[in-house]
Amino acid sequence: MDGAEADAIKHQVSQCPSGALSYTESRKEKTADNTETDVTTSVEVMRNGPLMVYGNIVVKDGKGNELKKNKVTAFCRCGASSNKPFCDGTHMKIGFKD
Ligand code: FES
Repeated sequence: MDGAEADAIKHQVSQCPSGALSYTESRKEKTADNTETDVTTSVEVMRNGPLMVYGNIVVKDGKGNELKKNKVTAFCRCGASSNKPFCDGTHMKIGFKD
C-alpha cells in the first residue's frame, strides 16, 4: 500500500472477499457558516448482516430525493429488507450467510 494512489487502495479493499478489510476516508468540507470541518466516513461489512456506514452521509434515491443520515447507517446486503436500501433486521429471520 505504501506509495499507492488512494483510489487504487480503495479498489483493492473493495475486492476483499471476506470483508475483513475496510478503510476510512477523511476530507475537509466547508459548513454553512463557511468554516472547515473534517468529514470522516468508514464502511464495515457485517458478517451475515448489513453494510454499516459510519459518518454523516446523504443517500440519494432513484428519483433524486436526498435523505441525510447521521452517525451510523445500515444498508441491506441480503436483499430481503422491506425498507431498502436500509437494513430492517430481516437478514436474521431468513438466515442470511455471507
Ligand atoms: S441485511 Fe439486514 S435486512 Fe438485509
